[in-house]
Amino acid sequence: MSGKEEELTYSEAIEMAHESITRFPLIPIQGVPLMSLIASDWDTVWAFRPDPSDILIATYPKAGTTWTQEIVDLLLHNGDAEACRRAPTPMRSPFLEIKSPPPIPSGLDLLKIMTPPRIIKTHLPYQLVPPAFWENKCKTIYVARNAKDNLVSYFFFDMMNKTQPEPGPWDGYIHKFIQGELSWGSWYDHVKGYWREKERKNILFLFYEEMKENPRREVVRIMKYLDLSLSDKIIDEIVELTSFKKMKENPMANYSCIPKPVFDCSISTFMRKGEVGDWRNHFTPEQSKMFDEDYERQMKDVNIPFKTDLI
Ligand code: A3P
Repeated sequence: MSGKEEELTYSEAIEMAHESITRFPLIPIQGVPLMSLIASDWDTVWAFRPDPSDILIATYPKAGTTWTQEIVDLLLHNGDAEACRRAPTPMRSPFLEIKSPPPIPSGLDLLKIMTPPRIIKTHLPYQLVPPAFWENKCKTIYVARNAKDNLVSYFFFDMMNKTQPEPGPWDGYIHKFIQGELSWGSWYDHVKGYWREKERKNILFLFYEEMKENPRREVVRIMKYLDLSLSDKIIDEIVELTSFKKMKENPMANYSCIPKPVFDCSISTFMRKGEVGDWRNHFTPEQSKMFDEDYERQMKDVNIPFKTDLI
């Protein structure tokens, strides 16, 4: 099936399901709030057995997942841009735990029809990743983004993504983030969970800010971690193809495959800004102070070198 047909099928499936699309409530799984559809079939996700060659890309939502999926797909295809336009991101790199109303295929449905090595996306916190990923020693890339920019990005996303709980007003949203009440739970526990296991489980831990600061350096890090060796010219091309500008224009990477009943782009686009430090345009000085004080409390037991600005 060509990418075009797959895109049509995926978009059509969403259009067909639009009457069942709703802002799904969150149900806790081991204390982590997950969309009800995910929680209702949790055992199937937990039992998933990847192939040892599968690659896991794990993130807290809005930390740079799509960007990293695109880089990895291009690396695996030796920089072949056409090959990476074979289908939209969620078809090329399925979202492990996602469940949507039929006939939209779930992440597991898509994985079933793919041949390893597959690029698998997850937002699950470390403790909820199906244990077979670790038993099979799957390569795992974790991308972390500074809390304030991550929060701003998630706020805009929750406004436009009609399957996520209503974000409510900005000030209240900050508190929900701090209290770990958003889908996929606490940002603080999420980043700490993977940070603590990164050596033991050979997880490549990346920062969104470092990818912005020096994308070529980070693409090379990912390449080496995946035991690949591409020419300098192809690496340069991958850096260019995965720039914010290029990805925003690429219908196979910009999530324009998700129609309005789910992603309402008149509210905000998926490829929104792609910057470090946008939080300064949204936090008041009081909100920033309160957030920083709480951050000190929640992060006092680790030293994860986040940058909130690029100088
Ligand atoms: P903003 O909302 O701040 O613009 P995810 O893929 O995890 O959902 O993350 C989405 C965020 O990553 C959005 O952030 C999006 O714009 C940004 N993003 C996506 N592709 C990017 C790229 N190539 N370069 C920089 N940022 C990118």
